[in-house]
Amino acid sequence: MKNNFIIALDGPAASGKSTTAKLLAKKLGYIYIDTGAMYRACALSSLNKQISLDNLNLLNKMLNEIDILIKQTNQGNKIFLDGEDVSEKIREENISLLSSKIASIPEVRKKMVALQQKMGANGAVVMDGRDIGTVVFPNADFKFFIVASYSVRAKRRWQELQNKGINSDLKKIEEELKWRDKNDSERTCSPLVKAKDAYEIDTTNLSINEQVEMILKIINKER
Ligand code: DC
Repeated sequence: MKNNFIIALDGPAASGKSTTAKLLAKKLGYIYIDTGAMYRACALSSLNKQISLDNLNLLNKMLNEIDILIKQTNQGNKIFLDGEDVSEKIREENISLLSSKIASIPEVRKKMVALQQKMGANGAVVMDGRDIGTVVFPNADFKFFIVASYSVRAKRRWQELQNKGINSDLKKIEEELKWRDKNDSERTCSPLVKAKDAYEIDTTNLSINEQVEMILKIINKER
């Protein structure tokens, strides 16, 4: 029986993709790749180097030199940018917005997609993002599109921040999610869209374990 599937999990921000992908990979003994973190690392790099997103020359230079590494650890993925562990830094709110902007630039996507295809080439991988089932691995063995209501997504993000000791405003989080969804879905290059052959999973009323079990059931039924 084949056991080196490529599993694609796409969907909007804070829909529960990453937590589900992480657990799913653990249960299957697969590697997990958080592609959003790669766009976040690009955003942080442009900020560190003070490169304006309009300056394609400098952006291309940055992309030629950029060193993004995803390390699998017991605590999940650790992201290194040019040798520095930036796993925490890339989660800051300004980076969320900037990553959505930089991810709409075709040159940036071309470079990240090539890296992601290389990382997943041997299979046994769960990859989450926006275009995994449509562009990165259109022939993935399993594709899932994860959705949830705005209020639940905002509440999850709020709780995540709360757990880190950060107070935030629920309404503002919801607005930011709406802005990012619009930006990610309306861009010309590889917009966030459900692949025709993806299973849609609505996590609004599901616990994390229920989400993972639902996906595992589908995988086990078909393999
Ligand atoms: O999944 P995330 O919220 O960490 O992703 C950050 C941004 O990166 C998101 O707003 C859109 C972009 N992204 C993308 O365009 N394609 C991907 N495969 C993953 C993320």
